[in-house]
Amino acid sequence: MSSNIHPIFDSILSREKKEELLGQKGLVLWMTGLSGSGKSTLAKGLEAKLYEKGILTKLLDGDNLRTGLNKDLGFSEEGREENIRRVAETARLFVNCGVVTICSFVSPTIGIREMAKTIIGPDDFYEVYVNASFKTCAERDVKGLYKKAMNGEIKDFTGLDAPFEPSVSPFIELNTDNESVDDSLDTLFRAVLPVIKNN
Ligand code: ADX
Repeated sequence: MSSNIHPIFDSILSREKKEELLGQKGLVLWMTGLSGSGKSTLAKGLEAKLYEKGILTKLLDGDNLRTGLNKDLGFSEEGREENIRRVAETARLFVNCGVVTICSFVSPTIGIREMAKTIIGPDDFYEVYVNASFKTCAERDVKGLYKKAMNGEIKDFTGLDAPFEPSVSPFIELNTDNESVDDSLDTLFRAVLPVIKNN
């Protein structure tokens, strides 16, 4: 199908030149965790902190992308896989422009995160495990989805009747069960900043 397609690579203006222009290293921070674990809160907070340091970021978030680019996809295994595949391809475009790309997706299985890592490239992929127990997320129930899922109104709900596999060896793990948002954010910021500014 793609045999007549000839991609043009930006050999004139390289990623390195763009990173030099921005004074930062492009990378993907891949936030994984249950719905309600704090991914989006931390992603937004991190964006604000990085902005103050003059770092250009792009935030890609599940709830947002699922109303646009990925609005045709559901939460079956196939739907989630295609969701993450498109997100990873999109993230790669941003990284190749030197942008710090923060992806906030449940991305529930080791396999799905491995796929994202492969598409993005392992050197640019930094997994952030936002770890909160099912119990905590269900108690928070920010969007009221846990109540609905437990009443049988949502099927394939992550952590209930669809799996969540914990992150195996993340770049960083944040335990939002017992850390404050400010503490988690601070830990994340301190870990990430030296990587972004190392060039
Ligand atoms: S992923 O599994 O494909 O990575 P994604 O991060 O895009 O999921 O979307 C998750 C968000 O969709 C949740 O934060 C929640 O608001 C909403 N949602 C709706 N239905 C489900 C479901 N069945 N499982 C998980 N999240 C759901």
